[in-house]
Amino acid sequence: MPAFSFRHIKNLYPIFWSKAREVTDAMIADVHKQSGTEDEGVVEVGGWASRVTLDIIGVAGIGHDFNAIENPDSELNTCYRTIFSPNRGVRLLELAGLILPGWFLRNLPVKQNRQLQAARSLVRRTCFDLVHEKREKLENGKSTGTDILSVAMESGGFSDEDMVNQLMTFLAAGHETTASAMMWAIYLLCRNPDVQTRLREDVRAGLPGISDATSTVDSAEVDKISYLHAVCNEVFRLTPPVSLTLRTTANDSTILNQPIPKGTTIILSPQAVNLNPQLWGEDAGQFNPERWMGPGRANSGGADSNYSMLTFLHGPRSCIGKDFAKAEFAVLLAAWVGRFEMEFEDKDYELVIGGGITSKPKGGLSVRIKALEGW
Ligand code: HEM
Repeated sequence: MPAFSFRHIKNLYPIFWSKAREVTDAMIADVHKQSGTEDEGVVEVGGWASRVTLDIIGVAGIGHDFNAIENPDSELNTCYRTIFSPNRGVRLLELAGLILPGWFLRNLPVKQNRQLQAARSLVRRTCFDLVHEKREKLENGKSTGTDILSVAMESGGFSDEDMVNQLMTFLAAGHETTASAMMWAIYLLCRNPDVQTRLREDVRAGLPGISDATSTVDSAEVDKISYLHAVCNEVFRLTPPVSLTLRTTANDSTILNQPIPKGTTIILSPQAVNLNPQLWGEDAGQFNPERWMGPGRANSGGADSNYSMLTFLHGPRSCIGKDFAKAEFAVLLAAWVGRFEMEFEDKDYELVIGGGITSKPKGGLSVRIKALEGW
């Protein structure tokens, strides 16, 4: 928990910024390749977003650069794509999970299981090597860095085995979620060009130009751009990447006087709660960053209770990476919107929601970007 506190997260802004620069530069290089000299071309947002968020969780989370932006075909990136873009077979197995026990399905000798097991082994091996490397440095009295893994290991209290398990969780939990949020943000900014323009103006006025290789940012600079904060919150509200999750009741309980016996599976749906007109008003289904602007609204969006927004859940098993995710997301979004004008590749694009563990635009999101000068 302390390693994920804002006290530590604020030291990570320069890492978020330099990875944001690397990805925007790489996207420009990619469109150059497509169209010769023009700084304009089509990119698939999901692919770039996954690569940059994997790199960020690598450097800021564990002090290791996976270089997924530079090398999309790296073993680790490919293996996460296997896990997060499940094909039909994996979906069928998931469906079967509703009626058959997990241990049974995991042991079925089918291709999907073999692929997932191979991916899992690779992630575990990578995590084990990283923990081992840090442990050696620590034992030799060397500083290991400001990343989350270093802070957690320096605090003591974890065996290497524990640490590997923690790492596997936050590597997986910490990149596809933010990447899906980026897809939603770009989708909503393409649908709402006026919001896109205003956000770009505020970002450009408030932050140094990202194309300047010497520029960096700190938390105070990013946090004071209130419209950026408002847009990020509204994206998190309207399109929560984890649209539903499950809990099992530990005791007999009640919900609104309805008795719920111990052992009942409960579906918690951020998607349903975040869009509830009783909590957010008649325009609950609309993208309206304004609801987060004005006195007393920056953290509530005008809702009466914190529990009106479940994107990161609440309580002891909520998202431990919430502050990390919010900071990373604000920096990435600022960089993309400051640097690029964006519109759907297909002017008549119609959204179909897909995804596996997270929900996101199905089949990716193709956007025409134009690199803008002067920032
Ligand atoms: C927009 C980005 C993110 C969203 C929407 C999100 C959302 C969530 C949600 C809803 C859960 C609870 C899942 C459940 O219990 O069913 C969760 C758990 C978790 N998240 Fe996030 N997350 C995000 C980013 C991150 C990041 C960047 C990290 C790490 C740096 C992270 C680390 C974790 C971990 C370790 C857990 C498991 C916590 C536990 O079980 O106690 N998340 N996240």
